[in-house]
Amino acid sequence: MATSPSLKMKNVGVSFFFFFFFFHGLLLSHSPSSSVSARPASFQQDFRVTWADSHIKFVEGGQAVQLGLDRNSGCGFTSKYKYMYGRVSMRIKLITGDSAGTVTAFYMNSDTDSIRDELDFEFLGNRSGQPYTVQTNVYARGKGDREQRVNLWFDPSLDYHTYAIRWSHRQVVFYVDEVPIRVYKNNEARGVPYPKSQPMGVYSTLWEADNWATRGGLEKIDWNKAPFYAYYRDFDIEGCPVPGPAACVSNPGNWWERDSYQQLNPTEAARYNWVRRNHMIYDYCADKSRYPVAPPECTTNV
Ligand SMILES: *[C@@H]1O[C@H](CO)[C@@H](O)[C@H](O)[C@H]1NC(C)=O
Repeated sequence: MATSPSLKMKNVGVSFFFFFFFFHGLLLSHSPSSSVSARPASFQQDFRVTWADSHIKFVEGGQAVQLGLDRNSGCGFTSKYKYMYGRVSMRIKLITGDSAGTVTAFYMNSDTDSIRDELDFEFLGNRSGQPYTVQTNVYARGKGDREQRVNLWFDPSLDYHTYAIRWSHRQVVFYVDEVPIRVYKNNEARGVPYPKSQPMGVYSTLWEADNWATRGGLEKIDWNKAPFYAYYRDFDIEGCPVPGPAACVSNPGNWWERDSYQQLNPTEAARYNWVRRNHMIYDYCADKSRYPVAPPECTTNV
């Protein structure tokens, strides 16, 4: 891990802090915007390798991180801080060619075992020429089993695409580029748990899961094609870091809490419906064998 990729991080907790002191006249000679609004940071500063350092390296002149999977190991990294609310994104280029049996994940996780909150993107590899499936899941207070699957409408191994999670007090939205593929509303009023009391770290991993990932485990990983590589760049985290100023989390002035972000705008709603009509291949809400009666969030989640 010699050079570091550039990492754009707009740290709202920090900017709130500077803003406060700016208006209290304590920060007289220093412009808060220059030091805060788009602080360039390094992978080493804001993320750390959690699994198999030997399988992670910097490429593209230090602008991107390569994760590798071979017979010996997969690998993974995580943010040093946890965050509450905001928006997290990365650009990812997935494994090319035959990726059956592999899973590349990008997720947020509170890391609190039995009561964990978790927001998942899992990219399930496939044989060459077959579609790449994205599985999303939402855990709240330890309860998951909310899988949805979408086949991507492009080949995600040819180019980088942006995958984002936006999280406010009122809804979580998963985006693929500009297209919302999943919305999880705060339905606490109907007794549905919502992730709202635990900060979450940002994680990514690449591993082998050929017992389930591709066609329910029928398609096995072809180790003759190893090593498998996925690439990451342009990390962006806007959120309230924890530990950090407590006032940030409940600040209604945070952009993601604004009314306009509490439902999809008409363009987004049209895209979301297009995905659901044309590219969704599995929805737990419609799985009668698992849920003879659809879970409560399924009827109220629009
Ligand atoms: C892989 O390709 C098959 C055949 O087109 C498709 O049915 C399946 O949904 C794809 N994705 C996975 C993860 O199996």
